Amino acid sequence: MNIDICFTPNDFDDEKYSKYSAVVIDVLRATTSIATACANGCKELIPVRTVAEANKLKANNPDILLAGEREGLLIPGFNLGNSPFEYTREQVASKTIVMTTTNGTLALTKASAAQKVYAMAFVNAAAITSALQQQQDDVVIVCAGSEGRFSLEDTLCAGLLAERFSKTAKLSDTALAAQAMYRDFAAELLPRVAESSHASYLRSIGFEQDVMLCLQQDTLSVIPVFENGTITACIK
Ligand code: MLT
Repeated sequence: MNIDICFTPNDFDDEKYSKYSAVVIDVLRATTSIATACANGCKELIPVRTVAEANKLKANNPDILLAGEREGLLIPGFNLGNSPFEYTREQVASKTIVMTTTNGTLALTKASAAQKVYAMAFVNAAAITSALQQQQDDVVIVCAGSEGRFSLEDTLCAGLLAERFSKTAKLSDTALAAQAMYRDFAAELLPRVAESSHASYLRSIGFEQDVMLCLQQDTLSVIPVFENGTITACIK
């Protein structure tokens, strides 16, 4: 198996990766919230790029929950923001959620040209590792980054996955770089990620607890799979 990493969604090439499995990572906070919603029994989650698309879906189906953020904050008229703490069983069980976020849902829709697409964060890293171990496809990890730019936390999470496959897969140059970075930072992940620009921003708008939750590893045994425009989950 080959493992490659796109440090930003712009590096994802539809043709090159059409036969790969893609793993999309937006640690702060979209894929952490998606994993949490799936673990708490949402029926399905539909990632869309724009607020207008989300509102249109709601107009046709008033029962869905609208979720997501702009500048980290609840979008006016939406039911949920993008804090994983909001995706409780009481809120999301059996619900269809339509989500739009600045980078995470964009990365998911961009990666949809791949053979299969998973949503991963630190919280469900072990579950995704075991799903990938049971298939044969090459893997491309797509870091959501921040508005087209590299992000530390997504790269470290990608590096964790590269580390877990370092003995069984061939790592590309970007995967080797992320693995080296993960090895260097692993012992003090929280304080190092806390220095990142998005973690600082989230703290400044009152979401310090979110950053801590998003850096917990392997707490959710859930494998969110994005197929035909919808994320559904397999609970391990
Ligand atoms: C995003 O998709 O850009 C993020 O998840 C932003 C956030 O809510 O922290």
